[in-house]
Order: sequence, then structure tokens, then C-alpha cells
Amino acid sequence: MTPHDVAGEFDAIASLTPRDRLAPHAGWLLRQIPHCNDLLDAGCGLGLTASIAADRAAHVTGIDLSPVMIARARRDYGHRATFEVADFLEYLPAHPESFDCIISLAALHHVDAATALPLMASALRSGGTLLILDILDRRGILNLPVNAFAAAVSVSRRILFRQRWSRELNAAWNAHGRGERYESAATLPGLREILPGARIRRHLIWRYSLIWTKP
Ligand SMILES: C[S@@+](CC[C@H](N)C(=O)[O-])C[C@H]1O[C@@H](n2cnc3c(N)ncnc32)[C@H](O)[C@@H]1O
Repeated sequence: MTPHDVAGEFDAIASLTPRDRLAPHAGWLLRQIPHCNDLLDAGCGLGLTASIAADRAAHVTGIDLSPVMIARARRDYGHRATFEVADFLEYLPAHPESFDCIISLAALHHVDAATALPLMASALRSGGTLLILDILDRRGILNLPVNAFAAAVSVSRRILFRQRWSRELNAAWNAHGRGERYESAATLPGLREILPGARIRRHLIWRYSLIWTKP
């Protein structure tokens, strides 16, 4: 899928999404952000996560491929952060050693991790922190009990937070997800080979996190 295709799909999703909500386990990830000066949210979507990250960072920049996502982020959270339409694979090499923290939620699986993670590392200052949260592929019969529990928690969460999706939004997400590939227990150790010392953790609602500090 080209960046243009990804932007088009997320433009459609943004137009159908009534209001932004935090992704599963995003609250946990946000609490890992150190107090710092410059933070980048790579693939910021509608901007809620970047706006909350502004509690910990003096300057927050959110970038995303989708112009509709960025227009909404500017409208809703422009007073908390700066938002730009950009492909992070192009933006990161143009900003070497520029950030104390880079966060990226549910965006890494759209690109090749072996390309993107070193670019994120080189855009960090020494001592800076990379925080990734992305989707975990946890198929398999042995995972049935944990997946059943995760489904129950996920449904309760939606009811509790009154997260009702329209038929059109469901269809847009289903169409978007088709053919996507996610990291799994078998592939996650490969990420540690790209960023030695990275701490990788698997989370309940089909997510993994990666935390890395630049030496
Ligand atoms: C599933 S959404 C997640 C949005 C937000 N991070 C969140 O957690 O709500 C993935 C976002 O990543 C963006 N994205 C994917 N590849 C990108 C790239 N190469 N550069 C910038 N944004 C990208 C998409 O446009 C989309 O808005």
C-alpha cells in the first residue's frame, strides 16, 4: 500500500469518526513519557494522544499522512500542539537529533519497522526516549483463553465509554485492516535486534509496547 493509499483510507476514517478516543493501553504509554522539551507523535491521527502528551513536554509536534486527520487535530488541539501533514519516513531524516521523546501509536505497522525504527532513533537526542505502542497478532489455539478475556474487556470498555461506531465506520476499519500484518510473539525479538536494549512488553488488548532509550 502506498502512502497515498494509507492517507486516503485514514481521510475516510477521520471523516466518519465523531470524536477521538485513546487507543487501548495508550493511557499506560502516556504515563511512560518523561518530562521533556521536544516530543514528536509519529502518525498522530486525530491528535488526542499528542494533546495529552503536552502535559509532559514543552513542545509537541504531531505528524500524519492524512490531511483530514491533521485538519481535525489542528481544530481540536491546535492550542496544545503543532500538527503537520507529513510522512514520518521523510520527516525523521530531515530532523536529526531533534527530539527528547518520540511516541508512535498504531502507526508502525504501516511501514517497514527495520526502516522506521533506526530513523526514529536518529531523530532522538542522546538520552531521548522512544515509545511505541502497536498491534499484536495473537492468533493460535493456545491463545484462546487470553483472547476471550481480552474480547470481554474490550467490549466492556466500549460499553463503559459509550464507544458506538456507525456501520460505515466499522466498514471503513474492516476494509483498511484487510491484508495488514502485525508483529507477533515470534517476530517481536527481531525489533530488539534493530534497537538493542529495547524493552518489549505484550499487553492484553492485542497490543505490544517497545520502550528504548538512546545511549
Ligand atoms: C490507526 S491510526 C492511529 C492514530 C493515532 N496514533 C491513535 O493512536 O489514535 C494510524 C495513523 O498513522 C498514520 N500513518 C501511517 N503511516 C504513516 C506515515 N508513514 N507517516 C505519517 N503518518 C502515518 C495514518 O495516517 C493514521 O492516521
